[in-house]
Amino acid sequence: MPKTAIVTGASSGIGRESAIALCKAGWNVVLAARREDALNETAALCGSAEKCLVVVGSVADEAFVKTLFSKTVARFGRVDLLFNNAGSNAPALPLEDMTLEMFQNVISVNLVGSFLCAREAVKAFKSQTPIGGRIINNGSLSAHTPRPNSAPYTTSKHAIAGLSKSIALDGRAFDITCTQLDIGNAETPLTARMHMGVLQPDGRRMAESTFDVAHVGEAVVHIAGLPADVAVPQFTIMASKAPFLGRG
Ligand SMILES: NC(=O)c1ccc[n+]([C@@H]2O[C@H](COP(=O)([O-])OP(=O)(O)OC[C@H]3O[C@@H](n4cnc5c(N)ncnc54)[C@H](OP(=O)(O)O)[C@@H]3O)[C@@H](O)[C@H]2O)c1
Repeated sequence: MPKTAIVTGASSGIGRESAIALCKAGWNVVLAARREDALNETAALCGSAEKCLVVVGSVADEAFVKTLFSKTVARFGRVDLLFNNAGSNAPALPLEDMTLEMFQNVISVNLVGSFLCAREAVKAFKSQTPIGGRIINNGSLSAHTPRPNSAPYTTSKHAIAGLSKSIALDGRAFDITCTQLDIGNAETPLTARMHMGVLQPDGRRMAESTFDVAHVGEAVVHIAGLPADVAVPQFTIMASKAPFLGRG
């Protein structure tokens, strides 16, 4: 029986690429994000109408997240994988210029959205037969070390580390595993500016190298396909020349 994955933020970038890779590997894929047209494009790229379900809404909306999971179970019978990928960022500003709204928006999508989706996933994992399932939380290199002027994003991604460890610990008895996936400079709309020069901790602007996002899709398929008795607590994939090691 094909397994079923929910991918949030499936309308572009890493989410789109991972959804396509999962679908090509035989998974049913539920595509969630706010832009319906872009989600339909992802579904078309997946190339299998019966294996895809588009559900439109914001992961920061509790009612939407509940609907996302109930629609998934109604259509495919169970949930085997949640890829908590939807993410947002704030303008790069010194802390004193950051508005509460900017900070809360990033926390609402990156952290609260991941919590809401994880909570519904765990409910589904515990109530299905056989029990269990896998969650992959999209962290970042910024889950370890900040870029300049990035307090909301860095805070949200550091918090993803705690959420991931808690899910993994509390889920252990129920065949629930959780991975924190830390990506560095995959080529997506989010990282398009990397080639133009990015502010470094020493004040310089420097173009940074990126890598083909297809490799992230392959990594997600690999982790997702592991048996329930194998856990991958952390997985880092980055452009080999990204200035992460030694950042700062
Ligand atoms: N690219 C990298 O190198 C890199 C590095 C580290 C971490 N990441 C993480 O990877 C994830 C995806 O980033 P990306 O590079 O693929 O960027 P992207 O192309 O901008 O994708 C972001 C996705 O999140 C969705 N999204 C944003 N707000 C949402 C909301 N409220 N509800 C539902 N979906 C929402 C967007 O869809 P809609 O606009 O249609 O809602 C879009 O599909 C993020 O969590 C990001 O922090 C990326």
